[in-house]
Amino acid sequence: MRALRARGKVVRALVRPGSDASGLPKEGVEIVRGDMLDPPSLTNAMSGVSAVVSSAIGYSRRRKGDSLKTDFDGNRNLVDAAKRSAVPRFVFLSILACDQAPNVPHFWAKKVTEDFLQQQGVPFVSLRPGAFLGAPSGRYREWMLAGLQKGQVMGMTQGGVRMTYIAPDEVARALAMAVDEPRALGLRIDLGSDRPLSGEELTELASRLLHRPMRLRTMSGGGMRLAALFSPGIRGMLEMTRFFQTGKYVADTRLQGELFGPVPKVEDAAHRMLQDLGLLPVKAAG
Ligand SMILES: NC(=O)c1ccc[n+]([C@@H]2O[C@H](COP(=O)([O-])OP(=O)(O)OC[C@H]3O[C@@H](n4cnc5c(N)ncnc54)[C@H](OP(=O)(O)O)[C@@H]3O)[C@@H](O)[C@H]2O)c1
Repeated sequence: MRALRARGKVVRALVRPGSDASGLPKEGVEIVRGDMLDPPSLTNAMSGVSAVVSSAIGYSRRRKGDSLKTDFDGNRNLVDAAKRSAVPRFVFLSILACDQAPNVPHFWAKKVTEDFLQQQGVPFVSLRPGAFLGAPSGRYREWMLAGLQKGQVMGMTQGGVRMTYIAPDEVARALAMAVDEPRALGLRIDLGSDRPLSGEELTELASRLLHRPMRLRTMSGGGMRLAALFSPGIRGMLEMTRFFQTGKYVADTRLQGELFGPVPKVEDAAHRMLQDLGLLPVKAAG
């Protein structure tokens, strides 16, 4: 939303009933209450807009009861509402290589939604970023920070297999540009950094930036496999790490460079993430 406001756009946010939106009015964002699983609320939210931007997901299970239903049915409801309201453009935040990962449910939901946008004739742009290399919020922040402080880098691949990472700010910047970039219409566009990294290379990069030896930890251990037997969410994450290990999660960034400007360096993403986590100093501007 900040990236859209920075481009001078008037922004309306769809916020679920009960979610805290108190920070939005001071950012100049209008709030409409609604839910992707409540179709009538969506028509109201879309009235008069020049573009819809959708990044919402249920698979991260922020609320009790959240599930992949949001990613499949919720996105379908959004597309239906956009069609009814004749929205001129639907900017969809997808996932890199989602069309090659039928065993990863939250990736496949993105591919299904992209196809539905196309079938319904809703003018769309789909952005497909690699894995976010940024400081998360909430409980994941503490978990990531604790790991790094113990000298561990959480990598998603091992054995030299490379994958694409990108700073979340860069994704937001591209989303904000995609609302009115004429050349982007109808395209599914990979987003990434200047080069993919293996888990070992990510660990080396962190060691270099932090000036201390770090070691790679991966998410595919026995504990996770056991937990996956009982939790569909963890099963999805395990399937995702298996997919990363195929080496197919690598962005072709040529189109990104043409449409959204120079492809950012992966070093910059890692540096900013470590700054945001308070592990590297932030230089004062000027
Ligand atoms: N993390 C990565 O590495 C990565 C890589 C590629 C793409 N992506 C994509 O990036 C996007 C953002 O990911 P994230 O981790 O930042 O997501 P997140 O923090 O889990 O946020 C999800 C958002 O969806 C909203 N939401 C959930 N269910 C909803 C519903 N039924 N109706 C309306 N809104 C609903 C939530 O609202 P509340 O505030 O009410 O909970 C929340 O604002 C996703 O599309 C994800 O697939 C992420």
